[in-house]
Amino acid sequence: MRADAPILIFDSGVGGLTVLGPLRRLLPDAPVIYAADIAGLPYGTKSEAEVAARVSGLLGRMAERYQPRLICIACNTASTIALGMVREVLETPIVGTVPAIKPAAAMTKSGTIGLLGTEATMRQRYVDELESAFAEGKRLLRHGANGLVMLAEAKLRGERVSVDAVAQEAKGLVLQPHGEAIDTVVLACTHFPLLREELQEAYGKDVTLIDGAEGIARRIVSLSEGQAFSRERPDFAVTTGPLGDFEKLGDAFARHGIERLERF
Ligand code: DGL
Repeated sequence: MRADAPILIFDSGVGGLTVLGPLRRLLPDAPVIYAADIAGLPYGTKSEAEVAARVSGLLGRMAERYQPRLICIACNTASTIALGMVREVLETPIVGTVPAIKPAAAMTKSGTIGLLGTEATMRQRYVDELESAFAEGKRLLRHGANGLVMLAEAKLRGERVSVDAVAQEAKGLVLQPHGEAIDTVVLACTHFPLLREELQEAYGKDVTLIDGAEGIARRIVSLSEGQAFSRERPDFAVTTGPLGDFEKLGDAFARHGIERLERF
């Protein structure tokens, strides 16, 4: 393994930054390439076939071009739909991002957990399987909130995003039968922790919000144990969309140690 081989973080947009944050703290010397499929954003409104085709096609080309040591699919929608398929076609180790139902089940006191993700994630069998494996005896209420993805994208482009706009998209979770009993909400989309303060205000301070980002970062660390890291050139981010729009995210990327933005 070459010491300058990068870790590739992949998402439809800026959601992967929520994984990159903890990863930087744990592995500050790891070279990183951030890849955003902005031309395909949002994934949450797309069909399974469309997401699977985009993700496996793009990751195949990216693996060839960048020779990463590891790929993190920092997107719940892409992971719950295409993780198995991508692992079958690529030799590169893949870390996926799946809803943190297990820690939520350990944490809830009321026994009612909320699951907030994209509509596509909410209907995946992968999620049904996590529910039966880890949330037995608990009530898991789901809500697909595609609109939150674009609000998070807008916020990181420096636009003003109000608590009201966030609450509007998020409230369906607690307005369904038994919703008032939810004490723990799983943020099952990597974009959503970017709206953590707004969501906390929308649901109230008695609700605990949890996400899997820290756990994903730790998984990457454990898979790269014993490997050497050396950054031979500055980290960069690539987009499948127009560069002009991507550059609006310059400050957000700079806060994560990425100064160079390119088109894929
Ligand atoms: N960040 C992605 C996720 O974790 C989804 C965003 C989208 O809809 O593209 O599900």
